[in-house]
Amino acid sequence: MKAVLAYSGGLDTSVCIRLLQERYGCEVVTVTVDVGLSEAELREAEEKARSLGVVEHYTVDAKEEFAAEYCFRAVKANASYQGYPLSTALARPLIARKVVEVAEREGAEALAHGATGKGNDQFRFEAVFRTLAPRMRIIAPIRELNLTRRESLAYARKHGIPVPVEPEKPYSIDENLWGRSIEGGELEDPEVEPPEEIYEWTRVRREEPEEVVVEFECGVPVSLNGTKLSPAELIQEANRLAGEHGVGRIEMIEDRILGLKARENYECPAAELLITAHRALEALVLTRRELSFKASVEAAWSELVYFGLWNEPLRMALDAFIDETQKRVSGWVKLRLHMGRCSTLARGSENALYSVDAVSFDEAEDERIEGMLRYHSFQAEMYHRRRTGG
Ligand code: ARG
Repeated sequence: MKAVLAYSGGLDTSVCIRLLQERYGCEVVTVTVDVGLSEAELREAEEKARSLGVVEHYTVDAKEEFAAEYCFRAVKANASYQGYPLSTALARPLIARKVVEVAEREGAEALAHGATGKGNDQFRFEAVFRTLAPRMRIIAPIRELNLTRRESLAYARKHGIPVPVEPEKPYSIDENLWGRSIEGGELEDPEVEPPEEIYEWTRVRREEPEEVVVEFECGVPVSLNGTKLSPAELIQEANRLAGEHGVGRIEMIEDRILGLKARENYECPAAELLITAHRALEALVLTRRELSFKASVEAAWSELVYFGLWNEPLRMALDAFIDETQKRVSGWVKLRLHMGRCSTLARGSENALYSVDAVSFDEAEDERIEGMLRYHSFQAEMYHRRRTGG
């Protein structure tokens, strides 16, 4: 049986190659979907897969697609699940779809992933596998064989699989353009402070504040400080700019799909910068009612995506609503990055629903306000009158 495995090059998925071959009797094809890896990481993953005897390996460059179709949808939705900007959650459906595409091309009978039985990723991979390829078999070796991280390590050592994690720092790390997640080991205890060494993208390297201007067209960021960039380039540059000021570090307790509470650590500088800017622009151009209704749509969208239900029709319907609101979200926002903080300084848009004249204290009042004031609390006034018999 030929199985196509979503392969990151990490410990669990490397162990999966061997398990698929030995325990499941599979020919293994690996797919590494590039949603923001370095050249070196991609090369390493390919070499490792080939050294483990895969019959074929694919590297799929999906950086721009991930940035434009997933991360920028997250910007338009101001995506956040309990304060987590959905980095891993956003990438899984795209990775899973690319794996299905390779499986179809290869005429494979099975799809495989290396997620464990406690986390969210199993739901996300399998939801996409089942919706796009309902007839293919799904194999999840780590979950099915109930391997703990320690057992995976031991298995890797025994089978000559290069082990990237040091046993004293047994973190499970997932990275893509939109963020970096660090979990496992001592981090699982919420009473223990995360050590500084777990962070790679967010460290204050510049003590001086720095200003940055983000320009948007229809809800999507198009330039940073006047320089037009492709979606993936823009996100990378935003990560660098904001990360150098320590912006986008998150320590939180998250309610996983299964209902388990988990202690999570994230680094999401670009997400923090771009969503802060996007919200600031929306506040200027959307109506009060659009803003309050959209907030409930954003919560529903973020929860669906967190739960791996990217292919659920409701997600597409919510995106249609969001896109309609974004037609006017064009303009610019200036922000200051300083010591872990990202704050807005100024904003402008041709579509601003803002009138300096109307709001200014320097202009005379409109005398018609008297009538409005009289009726503004009319019903409450009647209620109190009835009660007091006034
Ligand atoms: N808790 C996050 C999420 O569910 C991060 C998961 C990270 N996955 C990993 N294999 N390290 O999206």
